[in-house]
Amino acid sequence: MTRLWGGRFEGQPDARFFEWQKSLPHDVELLAADVTGSVAWTKALAGAGVLSADEARRLSEALQALFQRAQEDPGSCAGTEAEDVHSLVEGELVKAVGDLAKRLHTGRSRNDQVATDLKLHLRELLVVLDERLRDLQVLLVDLAARTADLPLPGYTHMQRAQPITAGHHALAYVEMLERDRTRVQDCSLRAGTCPLGSGALAGTAYRVDREQLARDLGFVGPTRNSLDAVSDRDHLAEALFACSLISVHLSRLAEDWIFFSTHEAGFLELSDAIATGSSLMPQKKNPDGFELLRGKCGRAIGELTGLLATLKGLPMAYDRDLQEDKQALSLGIHPVIEQVEIAMILVRNVRYREDRCRAAAGKGGMNATDLADLLVQSGVPFRTAHERAGAVVLAALQHGCEIQELSQGLLADLVPELARLDLSEELSVESVLARRDGIGGTAPARVRAEVERWQEAIVAELAEDPAFDQDEDEDDER
Ligand code: ARG
Repeated sequence: MTRLWGGRFEGQPDARFFEWQKSLPHDVELLAADVTGSVAWTKALAGAGVLSADEARRLSEALQALFQRAQEDPGSCAGTEAEDVHSLVEGELVKAVGDLAKRLHTGRSRNDQVATDLKLHLRELLVVLDERLRDLQVLLVDLAARTADLPLPGYTHMQRAQPITAGHHALAYVEMLERDRTRVQDCSLRAGTCPLGSGALAGTAYRVDREQLARDLGFVGPTRNSLDAVSDRDHLAEALFACSLISVHLSRLAEDWIFFSTHEAGFLELSDAIATGSSLMPQKKNPDGFELLRGKCGRAIGELTGLLATLKGLPMAYDRDLQEDKQALSLGIHPVIEQVEIAMILVRNVRYREDRCRAAAGKGGMNATDLADLLVQSGVPFRTAHERAGAVVLAALQHGCEIQELSQGLLADLVPELARLDLSEELSVESVLARRDGIGGTAPARVRAEVERWQEAIVAELAEDPAFDQDEDEDDER
């Protein structure tokens, strides 16, 4: 049994208790970060005169070899009795370089070690999450480009309100995802300080250059308070909040599209690739993908509230409760990355039923606001115009027709100011949409302009992305 703390104990741990308190099943995910942190620590120890340059080199090489082996054969760590990933690495290192390995933990605690590993790993995951969000944005911008002109009923209170364009609807989600991206990036910034060198709680007694150590690990600088450094999980809570909100946004898109694809709305067609059937009712085509996206949101929120509840009331500094953070990480972040990836598949597999959308957007008096606006243009105060447009709506309801379909005589009675206008033109869906062409409006022209703005922003971002350049080079070579 690899234990890092046996000396003061006379008895053996209860086998079942020892198994239960282990974190290896969950923190083995931190292996790469743990090795990276340890390599940097060997350098810091050499700088502090604890290790010779040769010892530091041998330790670093052994750590890297260990990581290589774990990459090539993930099973090589399985079955180990180590308590956690830190014990695992140290145990394997002892096997590789003997007693020298026992010098690695000088001046370090698993408390600052795990805090460092967590930040390193989290920041990598946040980069992946951010990229996936961008990829989903690209697909939604494409959808918006294809549906910039397509009228769709817009709702408030789930009641038809005013026509919108389907492109505008898609771009609403692009906006949400953009805020999500800034939250993810922001969280990564605040996770940018290096806890290593904080020891168990009080700092380290060795003269390690913490500024250099932080830089070696890609952090902006060292944490400034050892108590805070070993017990801070704010960054994870923030990441889980960002993930929860991403999940909420995906859930809202799912809910919209579930509704759009109902028989009653009939605006959206799901391709067979993303629909499921019923074991009993042969005619069914169900939007299970979207329902699962909506359903899994509850779990993301659960991980956030779970971690907050764990942190609440923890006495300073490190407490073993904090070990629960690993499950919060793996259950709160990976599934959300996957949900974004699945959302991409779903977005690729929906198609608006244009005739149904167009027809629905032209019905139900959704142009009544524009009638009031026309009265305002002819000098009527808005409140009065609203009242009188309401009377026209009532007449249309009583006649079972749209406003512009009322008889000329009736319209001349109700809105004589508009006698010179061709109301079927002025109140057409196209006119109603086109009027809303200011910044943030739903007009096709404005949506196309926004699509262009997004496309330019994404092209500029991709041009700066080294990973993207690499792919381009590869393509060129082929
Ligand atoms: N597995 C532990 C965790 O994840 C590592 C730190 C253990 N520290 C301690 N003092 N027992 O939190």
